Amino acid sequence: MLNHRRDLMYGDIRLFSGTSCEPLSQKIADYIGIPLCGRKIIEFANENLFIQLAGSVRGQDCYVIQSTSRPVHRNLMEMLILIQTLRLDSAARITAVLPYMCYARSDKKDQPRVPITARLVADMIEVAGADRYIIVDLHAGQIQGFFNIPGDALTAYHRMISNLIELKKDMFDPVVLSTDLGFAKRARNIAEKLHVPLAFIEKRRLKNDSKAEALTVIGDVQNHDVILVDDEIDTGGSMVNAINLAKKLGARDIYVNFVHPVFSANAAERLAEAPAKLYITTDTIEIPEKSRNLLGDRLMILSISELLGEVIHRANAGISVGMMFNE
Ligand code: R5P
Repeated sequence: MLNHRRDLMYGDIRLFSGTSCEPLSQKIADYIGIPLCGRKIIEFANENLFIQLAGSVRGQDCYVIQSTSRPVHRNLMEMLILIQTLRLDSAARITAVLPYMCYARSDKKDQPRVPITARLVADMIEVAGADRYIIVDLHAGQIQGFFNIPGDALTAYHRMISNLIELKKDMFDPVVLSTDLGFAKRARNIAEKLHVPLAFIEKRRLKNDSKAEALTVIGDVQNHDVILVDDEIDTGGSMVNAINLAKKLGARDIYVNFVHPVFSANAAERLAEAPAKLYITTDTIEIPEKSRNLLGDRLMILSISELLGEVIHRANAGISVGMMFNE
């Protein structure tokens, strides 16, 4: 009976990894208990990519796992070409799984004569042939509206909050501090779940050159351990400013939490020099060994493989994903 019902749905799970996140994809496959599917990815001398599947996916439920992190355009094209290859091989359903979505910060026209590139990326994923998407911690929830296909916009903060509940046992009077007002609503939810007070940094970005300036704290951090929260660390400017500002205002130990370790330019060096006790992040993006070494045992990486593995399993079986989070 179960087999018959599954035949009517989308077939068996077929997991394909892009080259940006093979260790994470392998962990997801291990969680589900299936192997990753074989595929050949070749880059020609002219930088054009060629992809070939090792076996047929006709009638199967396919998942392309790819973080569109650095090298952004190569990783993006690899994912799009993989999706199209699956479509042309008559997959029954294709889901683009993006642990990290590039261009998510380009989500509105906030200056004259600028693009909305996150919308373009969403369009490209659909045009390539994806039927669904799974994305972790979108920079802004509204980006879901750029897709015409259904999807699951997940957050790694469920996992990070469980970790913080453990760490909190050794903290002194902790307070959650949001690095900017853009993250304020999510910071409030985190503070509520941890049963601790909340503070915000009012930050203003002046130019497009990735430099940010932390201005002032709304709330109290003096004599508190501080749980700093954000969605990503890119150049590290916002976070290092936040750490220094909190310290200047009398914060005790600082626990920095962020989902996506984008780590552009010399972010790891800057973080290594900043007076934070712990940097807690996830494996949505592979952190280069050099950066891992720089941060040493002040770096804690939580895996999102179980989250993604369970959601893929549920998407295939037609089981609620919201129930995982009591939603
Ligand atoms: C900004 O709106 C985001 O939430 C992050 O604060 C930002 O992307 C971090 O960028 P950077 O590390 O370059 O300051």
